[in-house]
Amino acid sequence: MNVFYETLAPFWPLLSPVEDYEEEAGELRRILEEAAPSGRSLLELGSGGGHVAHHLTARFTMTLTDVSASMLAMSRRINPECEHIVGDMRTLSLARTFDAVLAHDAIDYMTTEEDLLAALTTAHRHLVPGGVALFAPDHVLERFAPSSDAGGDDAPDGRGIRYLEWSPPLSPGETVGVTHYSFLVREPGQPVRSFYEAHPFGAHPVATWLRLFERVGFTVEPIEERTGEDRPPRLFFLGRKAALR
Ligand SMILES: C[S@@+](CC[C@H](N)C(=O)[O-])C[C@H]1O[C@@H](n2cnc3c(N)ncnc32)[C@H](O)[C@@H]1O
Repeated sequence: MNVFYETLAPFWPLLSPVEDYEEEAGELRRILEEAAPSGRSLLELGSGGGHVAHHLTARFTMTLTDVSASMLAMSRRINPECEHIVGDMRTLSLARTFDAVLAHDAIDYMTTEEDLLAALTTAHRHLVPGGVALFAPDHVLERFAPSSDAGGDDAPDGRGIRYLEWSPPLSPGETVGVTHYSFLVREPGQPVRSFYEAHPFGAHPVATWLRLFERVGFTVEPIEERTGEDRPPRLFFLGRKAALR
């Protein structure tokens, strides 16, 4: 992931503009507000360039964490009011708790059950009693569909980037897929450079998600995303940590 989230991190706003996250963030906010109406503090695992967070900061006090310092540096530019901490969602340990924990598309990088269990454990560890964890994977096995996409943009300062992404069908019985990315990058005064990087992702069955949530100690509810976007809705998972009696 060093190409996409380190070398090319400064191009994140040109690859995936912050405006494109408004509707999706609104849906995440709606679910969190319904689940924890008085919740204020929100920890995000794998917050990347902070594009989802940008649309949530008016409602929540947010702590943003990601394994890439370069992606967090981009997030700081648009979310200066947030705390930013470098950390792996499988091992993060901040020694404090939050009203809610969110993991958006970064959770797809949990390719094994072990990794997914570790991320869920991190969420549970960082929640107050009665707190909620919302996980919003791009993929569950039952809904996985091969896809391809292309995009990118130019910046006023003369930089530009274009990408092609391609997720071929999964092999039978597999719960790990691969997204292939190629990038063309233009910077003033330099020849165009090309990059390729393969990103394995988890496509865990719904039953695995539910079993792992329960194993960590959550009660769990699958939630069908409401979306106006031209694509099938995704399945989210909302975990509740037991309240104190
Ligand atoms: C697609 S980006 C997330 C973009 C983000 N949703 C946003 O709003 O800008 C995926 C992120 O997952 C992060 N990531 C991958 N594995 C991780 C891990 N084990 N722990 C924390 N972050 C991780 C990457 O560094 C990257 O920033």
